[in-house]
Amino acid sequence: MVSPLVIICLTLPMLLLFFFQNRRTFKKSPFPPGPKGLPIIGNLHQLNNSLLYLQLFELSKKYGPIFSLKLGLRSAIVVSSPKLAKELFKDHDLVVSDRPKLFGQQKLSYNGLEIIFPPYGESWREIRKICVVHVLSSRRVSRFSSIRVFEVKQMIKKLCGHASSSKATNLNEVLMSLSSTIICKTVFGKRYEDEGTERSRFHGLFNECQAMFAALFISDYIPFFGWIDKLTGLRARLEQNFKDLDQFYQEVIDEHMDPNRKTPENEGIVDVLLQLKKQRMFSIDLTNDHIKAVLMNMLVAATDTTAATTVWAMTALLKNPRVMKKVQEEIRTLGGKKEFLEEDDIQKFPYFKAVIKETLRLHLPAPLLVPRETSEACTIDGYEIPAKTIVYVNGWAIHRDPKAWKDPHEFIPERFLDSTIDFGGQDFEFIPFGAGRRICPGIPMAVASLDLILANLLNSFDWELPAGMKKEDIDTEMLPGITQHKKNPLYVLAKTPM
Ligand code: HEM
Repeated sequence: MVSPLVIICLTLPMLLLFFFQNRRTFKKSPFPPGPKGLPIIGNLHQLNNSLLYLQLFELSKKYGPIFSLKLGLRSAIVVSSPKLAKELFKDHDLVVSDRPKLFGQQKLSYNGLEIIFPPYGESWREIRKICVVHVLSSRRVSRFSSIRVFEVKQMIKKLCGHASSSKATNLNEVLMSLSSTIICKTVFGKRYEDEGTERSRFHGLFNECQAMFAALFISDYIPFFGWIDKLTGLRARLEQNFKDLDQFYQEVIDEHMDPNRKTPENEGIVDVLLQLKKQRMFSIDLTNDHIKAVLMNMLVAATDTTAATTVWAMTALLKNPRVMKKVQEEIRTLGGKKEFLEEDDIQKFPYFKAVIKETLRLHLPAPLLVPRETSEACTIDGYEIPAKTIVYVNGWAIHRDPKAWKDPHEFIPERFLDSTIDFGGQDFEFIPFGAGRRICPGIPMAVASLDLILANLLNSFDWELPAGMKKEDIDTEMLPGITQHKKNPLYVLAKTPM
């Protein structure tokens, strides 16, 4: 397929002529410094969409903790220090609580009928409130506990099989499948993992949906080049994915509304949303499109983030045997040598909790958080930032700021013991879930899954590397995409402890 940027380069001479003829109308602004780009396309051709946070981290070393980019005709700033994250989220949170309107996200979110992608406003506030109170609250999350417990037990059983036959386990695969099963059961009340064609249909649709979120639509940055997205087939792919997903959600809704449906063993989020729709007690009328858009949010926001974090935690522990030994000793001693640890048991493990935090510091699943946009002009670090500027907060860089963290690149969970630093959005050097009005509302659900999965993996097995492999051989390469996944599968040997 012809790259959109190649097409742009071919059309560029004509546009340069237009630009130079009209350059007096292009105003200069006292904007933060940044890499020089080309007229019209700005820095678009220089950016690596796959590992953008790493590239922006390098650029912050050259241009400072706030720098600017030109993304086609749109301006962006990148914030890379805890001090400026605090200024942003404390002093200007309301102004930076919009999200940029991007073509693919708008389409797949039914034009922003959900929580992640709409701009700040009444409709976003209401739908977020409905979900925070009725779907994502700690109370509701604990009612889904039996789903997590059942599925984690199934995984442990499977790994026991691997342990007794000395078969190496691909932890990426096992943990992705587990997160996906937990979230599907939580959302739909059923699992798609072992249902043949249904399974591959579901996974195919969601992989394509993730690819559409990560894709670069030229029309987002240079609207008059929008035809390129048609030419490359990207728009048609998006339309098809939307159509297929819409049909899938509709089937799920129809299935749940079928009067002959057997009472499900587990009530899922779809059931909760359909009941709320009937009750009509909110300032907005919940429609099927709202429900479909919210389902998309849950699947997209929860599955990859949980899987990626558990894989990174195991990777870090295998690379740091001292920490692995210490955390397993804590879990097994304070856990009273129980065969299976329940969610309440895990709250007694301070070092384990510190391991999870340290994992989220070094391997935050959403390294650029979710981009924001200014709704009006504001001053940040003395710079005039106009309305409609895209704001990237580079969590990856902030979590490695040497002014905030000693030995920032080392995996040292002890740094969180005797420390009040937490991920609730008040400590701006540690923001894996973001901060301010748009902070992740899924923290209780995320923590419940991470705790249960990781604590039981560490309680039930000792972990070894396959023969001939040393801890130095475990790589930490990342897969391109919105969520920071480990690129190469982590193969390990689960051993039943003596
Ligand atoms: C380890 C797991 C997770 C991490 C690291 C994570 C991280 C994030 C981050 C960084 C944001 C953007 C916050 C901002 O703009 O300041 C976000 C937003 C969001 N997350 Fe999560 N998340 C996780 C799990 C979940 C789960 C389990 C759910 C729900 C089932 C969820 C639902 C959402 C939603 C709906 C938003 C949009 C909030 C808004 O724009 O108002 N997340 N998440």
